[in-house]
Amino acid sequence: LALAAPAQAQTKYPERPITMIVPFAAGGPTDIIARIVGESMSKTLGQQVVVENVAGAGGTTGITRALTSAPDGYTIAMGHLGTYSAAPSTYPGLKYDPINGMQAIGLAGGTPILIVAKKDLAPKDLKEFVAFVKANPDKLNEAHAGVGSVSWTTCTLLKGQLGVPKLNSVAYRGTGPALNDLVSGQIDFMCDQIVSVSEQVKAGTIKAYAIASAERSPALPNVPTTKEAGLPEYQIEAWNGLAAPKGTPKEIVDKLVDALDKALNDENVKKRLLDLGTVIPTAEERKPAGFAALIKRDADKLSPVLSAAPK
Ligand code: MLT
Repeated sequence: LALAAPAQAQTKYPERPITMIVPFAAGGPTDIIARIVGESMSKTLGQQVVVENVAGAGGTTGITRALTSAPDGYTIAMGHLGTYSAAPSTYPGLKYDPINGMQAIGLAGGTPILIVAKKDLAPKDLKEFVAFVKANPDKLNEAHAGVGSVSWTTCTLLKGQLGVPKLNSVAYRGTGPALNDLVSGQIDFMCDQIVSVSEQVKAGTIKAYAIASAERSPALPNVPTTKEAGLPEYQIEAWNGLAAPKGTPKEIVDKLVDALDKALNDENVKKRLLDLGTVIPTAEERKPAGFAALIKRDADKLSPVLSAAPK
């Protein structure tokens, strides 16, 4: 007995596949980042990381499923600014608590926000779009991924700033399916994370009015910032990151943190993410403490605006 190593050091985790829940439909930014990062994490962990899409209620259905599962490292969640920082202000009965009731693992990617529109929408730049929206608030359809999602949150901020809080909006199970309808012209515009729309913007199948970041994205150097395009007050940074149920043992969390870190240092992963416009997190942001601080900072920032927003 005296020679027995502490139980904690003996974990054989993982001994079977790990489920990474994506709380939106396939093809959206959360799904894309989860699949790129998850593939690399599988190699480090020696077990498959299987992405499962559990969509609904702006991502809160899937995150609830992940965070109320056994805290054994076999079910983790790829959430984002919406599900971790916005949802607590938009869902009073939320069944999870991203601030005090969750084990943050780390930030997987910064995802700048673009205002994108169907390619033949009349306004040709952001100034014309703003004027058009203000003059015709009943003529445009906005797509989003459900109340509390990033697309909903970021367009809610935009509509608040433009004084058109109640524009027509259509909820999808993720912005992957919404993008298909934007390309085919069935909806007019959305605010979305760069990751899933950058290829379509480059191909010209949709157009981007502006990026809501301080700097242009190297992935889309021709898209002006909101500041350059005449709407400097519209600035918002979105992101995606991993979490596990509260109570997940430290040695399991450490393995997941290490696998995420290795994924983000992998040249192939980095290239794929950067080509789509993802901002690669710093070493500190990848750690649980850095990520938890970001979640709290953005929750505090969004809470006053979102609590009052029309749902
Ligand atoms: C969102 O709007 O929250 C995301 O774009 C959803 C998604 O990943 O599809």
